[in-house]
Amino acid sequence: MKIKKAVIPAAGFGTRFLPITKVMSKELLPIIDRPAIEYVVKEAIDAGICEILLIISPHKKEVLDYFKANKILEEFLIEKNNTEGLKLIREYNDIKINYVIQYEQLGLGHAVLHAKDFVGEEPFAVLLGDDLFYGENKPAIKELIEVFSQYDSHILGTMTVSDEETIKYGIADPILNQKGPVYELKGFVEKPKPEVAPSRSAACGRYILKPIIFKYLETQTRGVGGEIQLTDAILNSTKETKLYSYDIKAKRYDIGSKDGYLKAIVEFALRRDDLRDKMLKIIDENSN
Ligand code: UTP
Repeated sequence: MKIKKAVIPAAGFGTRFLPITKVMSKELLPIIDRPAIEYVVKEAIDAGICEILLIISPHKKEVLDYFKANKILEEFLIEKNNTEGLKLIREYNDIKINYVIQYEQLGLGHAVLHAKDFVGEEPFAVLLGDDLFYGENKPAIKELIEVFSQYDSHILGTMTVSDEETIKYGIADPILNQKGPVYELKGFVEKPKPEVAPSRSAACGRYILKPIIFKYLETQTRGVGGEIQLTDAILNSTKETKLYSYDIKAKRYDIGSKDGYLKAIVEFALRRDDLRDKMLKIIDENSN
């Protein structure tokens, strides 16, 4: 079954990025001249997904404004004959972005539950708004869509982490003796120490889920941190569907953390023809 719908949760408080997240969503943080969320939306569009739902918080609706036409600015740029600027601000004018407001920040699982009516009875993609990917050959979510087309089960996008990092992520617990890159999972373990971690494959903000997930999200009680966790509902739903993990080839940036955000800015600049030399010069000037 084709994946036509993407859900992008972007309603978290973003406490790791205070104080700026007091007034703006971390998903609007600029990666040079475009907000992080644009890369996520583009990833979904480039993967052939045509219906997008953003989950936003009630105080940060400016995320929506970015994807809407700005007629006053358009008129100004027309008057100034600034065709380049006009082209840039019109890029998303024809793309319909749906949204729903999560009034209480009760966790990622709670946020995804808000997508129930939008999703209906189809499998769908979930792309966390603060995880960016750079795929040289294809968008990260497209990799997962291709895996889904073979397995028709929940697919959890993973990445390999170091021993020190297992305590920061949900770590996949694969059934033994399988050949990758796709692994059937018994489950996963939240933030284990390296000595007890069942693997080095960590959840990294991309999922393909079957709609059965909503039945479990509706009754999911609060878990770690008092939040309704998506991972708990995924695990519970494995009574009815299988769960696989797949190590995504595209490179991931956690822009919800300060070091991940910095890395994204530097590496995205290095990939741009207009900025590469300038960024190299800055790095060079500061490396002694
Ligand atoms: P995080 O775990 O990064 O939480 O959410 P957070 O609140 O956004 O940030 P920190 O940890 O306090 O710094 C992962 C994703 O889930 C979304 C976030 O916007 C992010 O994309 N989310 C989280 C929601 O949409 N709603 C929530 O209630 C929680």
